[in-house]
Amino acid sequence: MVIGIIGAMNEEIIELKSVMTGIEEERLGNLTFFKGELRGKRVVLVEGGIGKVNGAICATLMKNHFNVDKLFFTGVAGGVNPEINIGDIVVGTDLIEHDFDCSAFGYELGKIPRMEEYQFKADESLRRIAVEVATETFGKEKVWEGRIVSGDQFIASPEKIKWLKETFNAYCTEMEGAAVAHVCYIFEIPFLVIRAISDKADDDAKVDYPEFVKLAAKNSKTIIEGILERI
Ligand code: ADE
Repeated sequence: MVIGIIGAMNEEIIELKSVMTGIEEERLGNLTFFKGELRGKRVVLVEGGIGKVNGAICATLMKNHFNVDKLFFTGVAGGVNPEINIGDIVVGTDLIEHDFDCSAFGYELGKIPRMEEYQFKADESLRRIAVEVATETFGKEKVWEGRIVSGDQFIASPEKIKWLKETFNAYCTEMEGAAVAHVCYIFEIPFLVIRAISDKADDDAKVDYPEFVKLAAKNSKTIIEGILERI
C-alpha cells in the first residue's frame, strides 16, 4: 500500500517530512515528491502549491505516477462555522468548489455541469479513523466533521463567510481540497482532507493567519501520523 500526502505549503509538510525515514526525492516538473516511510507505511509527500489547479495536478500525479492507494490532504483553513475556533480540526465529509458558478444556465452554485457529482465525498472509513485520532489527541470539543469548500480565493470578509455558510453550509474554507477531491472522484481514490483552523476568514484573517498557520499545520499533521498508525 502506498499513501499519498499533499500539503499546499512548506509549513504544511515540513514536519511530516522531518519524521519520514529513507527519503528519496523525485522531481516532476518543478515539484519535488518525497518517497519514504512514515509510521511504518510507504508514503509519498509533496508540497503542491496553493490553489485548485496545483491541488489537481498533484492528486493526478499521485495516482498516475506514484500509484497511491489512498490520498490525504493536510493543512490549514479559514473557519466559516462561527462555533469553530482557531486551532480546531475539521475532518471533511464532502468538498465543493465554491467558485464554480454556472448559475447563468440555472445551475446551483458549485454544481459542475455535465458531471453527476460535485459534492465530492471523503472515504468514510478514513473519516472515522481521523475523528477517533483527533478526538483522542485534542478532545471532542475541538474536532468537527463537516463540509469543506475550496476556491482560488483567500477569504477575509464577514460577508463572504455568511455567503459560504448560507449557500453551502460550509464548516471551513481553503484553496485546494475540493480540487483534490474532484480528482479522487474521477480516479476512484479513497481520500480525506484534514484541515486545522488558522483564522476565521473574517476581517482579522490576514493578521491571524501568519500567527497561527504553524500551530494549525502541526495539529493537522499530528492527526495524519495517528491515522497512518491505524490503517
Ligand atoms: N487557508 C487558511 N485560511 C484561509 C482563508 N481565510 N481563505 C482561504 N484559504 C485559507
